Amino acid sequence: MKEIIDVMIPETAIQKRIDELAAEISIDYSGLTLTLICVLKGGVIFFADLSRKLKIDVEMDFIDVSSYDDGTESSGVVRIEKDLERPITGKHVLLVEDIIDTGKTLICLIRHLSAQRPESLKVCTLLDKPDRRIVDGIKPEYVGFTIADKFAIGYGLDYAQKYRQLPYIGVILETRD
Ligand code: IMP
Ligand code: MG
Repeated sequence: MKEIIDVMIPETAIQKRIDELAAEISIDYSGLTLTLICVLKGGVIFFADLSRKLKIDVEMDFIDVSSYDDGTESSGVVRIEKDLERPITGKHVLLVEDIIDTGKTLICLIRHLSAQRPESLKVCTLLDKPDRRIVDGIKPEYVGFTIADKFAIGYGLDYAQKYRQLPYIGVILETRD
């Protein structure tokens, strides 16, 4: 199976936006240590690029959740596959996500992390698809790009585990045998 891909957000635009986000986050957390939490696997490329541009002290941890089957539809089940390795009680935490779609994954993560009573908890997502939102009151503090209701791939995002390594964000135009 071969998919035809169209570029939605080029590499240069992503990197420019990450520079802006990193500058904003560095000001907002100036003088503090920030615990950056990467939501695996989709968030990993964004997390790596964003973290390297921050001008503040950073600690890193990783969490893995599964919310999707191998296609493009949500299974509706959000499960924690791998939890944090260190406690976040009393820490300033920034959750780094690839994309917020229905909001089901994020609400589950926020509940899970809030239970540990961090000093603060904010969300930074590369992509936001507000038109698809099912869960009310989900508003990430830092958003890279707001996009239309299209299935995005690349720069961490996958379609059936493919395309995560692309340096740009794309959309699948058509599938050929
Ligand atoms: P939500 O729980 O519906 O908000 O979905 C969140 C998760 O579903 C994201 O962290 C992604 O892993 C995956 N997802 C949602 N939309 C897309 C997309 O357009 N492309 C790739 N993965 C997506
Ligand atoms: Mg994700």
